[in-house]
Amino acid sequence: MSDKNQSLEKDYWNNFYSKWVIEIPSQFCVQMLTEVDKQHTIVEFGSGNGRDSHYIAHQGHMVVAMDLSKEAVARSSSVMAERGIEHAVFSIGDVADEKDVARILAMARARGHASNSAVVVYCRFLLHSLDEGQEERFLTALSGHMAAGDSLYLEFRSSEDAGMKKIFGNHYRRYIDTDNLMSELNDRYNFATEYCLTGQGMAKYRDEDPFVSRVIAKKL
Ligand SMILES: C[S@@+](CC[C@H](N)C(=O)[O-])C[C@H]1O[C@@H](n2cnc3c(N)ncnc32)[C@H](O)[C@@H]1O
Repeated sequence: MSDKNQSLEKDYWNNFYSKWVIEIPSQFCVQMLTEVDKQHTIVEFGSGNGRDSHYIAHQGHMVVAMDLSKEAVARSSSVMAERGIEHAVFSIGDVADEKDVARILAMARARGHASNSAVVVYCRFLLHSLDEGQEERFLTALSGHMAAGDSLYLEFRSSEDAGMKKIFGNHYRRYIDTDNLMSELNDRYNFATEYCLTGQGMAKYRDEDPFVSRVIAKKL
């Protein structure tokens, strides 16, 4: 049974994004963009204030992004409108709701440069914000609605991070057993994992240097 209170979490992120304005992309986002060609539409789930999706759009990719926080989505959209960028769309939605995941993936495929061009799903620091039931529903929805050849990029706090110092407290985090997730992606959700790295130095922020895992997988 999860100790996560979804309503409190929504309030936390709405409040957080009414104040937090960093626009520098994450290191993981930059890593992903060095190896993904421009013709691929990128879908970001759990896009937060949109800093990674904004950067991805500035690099010329079509972007479709979704977050549960209406504050975050409103701010992300207004930044793109101010900059006159029309190829990035932000939408409110719940990754644990199959209909929302399906809607966003269909939108991404419809906006792609070519109908047969694979979609790249990108999630940074989302997975550890979900409880086990939500993660299961999200991965089931991805498995059902991503097409063969689509890619999945994940970065999340791993089990090794549980005891580490945090800058932002007071919200839900679940520390993920990376080996277990890799097995589930391969054996249950029909992905082939191509890359996995766990360590520090990949998401350092001020005094905090968390243990994170990066996983790249291809949908079979
Ligand atoms: C730690 S933040 C990461 C934001 C951004 N990806 C980044 O790296 O800066 C987690 C984000 O996941 C979103 N989130 C949490 N649960 C969600 C859900 N069920 N559906 C969609 N988004 C969710 C939160 O609103 C928040 O914006």
